[in-house]
Amino acid sequence: MTTATTTAELPLAGSPPELAGLPSEASLAALARTLYGVLSASEAGFPLSGPRQDPATVGSARSPRVADPPGGPAPLSPEPWLAPELREVDLPDLSAGLPEGSLPPGWPAAMSTSPRYFIDGSAVQASAMAMPAGGVPLAGQTAVSPIASPGEALLRRVLDELASEQSTQARNTVSGDPQHFYFVGDSLGRGVPQADSSRFPAFDVQAVRRDFPILAERVNGRPLIWLDNAATTQKPRTVIERLVHFYEHENSNIHRAAHELAARATDAYEAARSKVARFLGAGTAEEIVFVRGATEAINLVARSWGTRNVREGDEIVVSLLEHHANIVPWQQLANETGARLRVIPVDDRGQILLEEYQRLLGDRTRLVAISQVSNALGTITPVREIIAMAHRVGARVLVDGAQSVSHMRVDVRALDADFFVFSGHKVFAPTGIGALYGRREVLEVMPPWQGGGNMIADVTFERTVFQGVPARFEAGTGNIADAVGLGAAIDYVERTGIENIARYEHQLLAYATRQVASVPGIRLIGTATEKASVLSFTLAGYRPEEVGTALNEEGIAVRAGHHCAQPILRRFGVEATVRASLAFYNTCAEVDVLVSVLRRLAADREKAVR
Ligand code: ALA
Repeated sequence: MTTATTTAELPLAGSPPELAGLPSEASLAALARTLYGVLSASEAGFPLSGPRQDPATVGSARSPRVADPPGGPAPLSPEPWLAPELREVDLPDLSAGLPEGSLPPGWPAAMSTSPRYFIDGSAVQASAMAMPAGGVPLAGQTAVSPIASPGEALLRRVLDELASEQSTQARNTVSGDPQHFYFVGDSLGRGVPQADSSRFPAFDVQAVRRDFPILAERVNGRPLIWLDNAATTQKPRTVIERLVHFYEHENSNIHRAAHELAARATDAYEAARSKVARFLGAGTAEEIVFVRGATEAINLVARSWGTRNVREGDEIVVSLLEHHANIVPWQQLANETGARLRVIPVDDRGQILLEEYQRLLGDRTRLVAISQVSNALGTITPVREIIAMAHRVGARVLVDGAQSVSHMRVDVRALDADFFVFSGHKVFAPTGIGALYGRREVLEVMPPWQGGGNMIADVTFERTVFQGVPARFEAGTGNIADAVGLGAAIDYVERTGIENIARYEHQLLAYATRQVASVPGIRLIGTATEKASVLSFTLAGYRPEEVGTALNEEGIAVRAGHHCAQPILRRFGVEATVRASLAFYNTCAEVDVLVSVLRRLAADREKAVR
């Protein structure tokens, strides 16, 4: 098996730099061991580096319809990216149950699992499940008291200490000065719903959960467990309220009327553009073009930059990991221009093969289009290195950040990206809004891709003079309200602290990986050393859709299918997987419920074979 070299540019890799100066790994691990020793003796340890049950030895009630590649499933080796504290600690076995009555109403006893994980503490989770926003129980619900666990409390305190440094940093980065773009200087911010910056003294997943009203929803009689975050994310109340405020107090078209509401709407819209620029580390707000989402942004670049710069015989490089949205527009452009699409292969873990990539680059390479995080496998790609290598041969680089912006700090200037695209709905904002970042000097020489109002300076029947950037790329009335909603979502993420989010999710993914991998018959697809959010897998004896349906019956939302990324799934010999994708409002307790259902399915299959 070939292993790609990956850069450690992102905070998820290995031992996070933010731990520097805080308790050492060894002392944390020792503390953790002691604390878990105090916990229930009935908890059988799950050996993190121990042997894994070979799925090939597990019987099957039905013929597996999803074939394993020749040679059987790839063995799962210990993940080097596992948080040090999780590497050291024997996690509790999920067969250990919670005490009677300790789960929220509707949570089936069969799904009782240990609450004692220091990431969030599912005992507290139980009360969050029963407690809607504002802490008032819904009709028919009873608040459940947290289970006292001295070990958990102590570990939480240590982690809170680790977190406090990041949240202080995050609070300090929130700029208080909204820009004004119109003639009413003080309209922005008056009565506009804002996330309370004092809410996040340290990362607290239960506080976060209370900010997302839909997480109190019940599905099929069970508490909703939303593990389909790679498809779309849920929205915090501040985003929902921001939309309401816009339509109740600001709604107008923008940039073109001499009245108060036009001023408010324009200010709000342009302030959102500045927030996106700051969020991505762009130099100026003029480098941000509002679009419907990542797909539209890629199409814009293909139509505008592509038709101007790509000629017959030129080459466009994409990776095997790409979402269809980062393949099809380039394929269309190549077909129209006579250019050639070239594909960077991946290794058996789903990691980019940089040596192969190097071989693809040359003086014909015009553009490299690469995801920062794979939506199907969760692989984090070494984009900084990929960009530097492309620039050495004079190629431009577009980074698809649809799956990265909600999980890690993005800095387009540090990455030296020429284009960066993302969709708002994957980062807790509404659907139908997203952004294209384009390096200013590149955007400035790109022709408009659509014509209409808003993007022109002057029109006669003989000729049209276009606006500068970014307006020349925003023909017609845009999605004003949802752009404002995107600004509110960015505020929310920044107040929580993207580094807090990244660290929490890293631990949660490490935990989920180990637990899901321990289910007999599971084959994990995509085991890169650097991953974010995504667990893609098949379960022997079941089609992915069957697993998805069974999970849905228990209130768990996952995606089952090809994830709009057929080439990478076929690389692993499958047409579909089950994909659980995590966000910072998910918890270990939710992972436990997922694993309980998977275990039940695996056991049913075993029984049927006997
Ligand atoms: N791109 C979205 C996904 O991966 C829809 O599910």
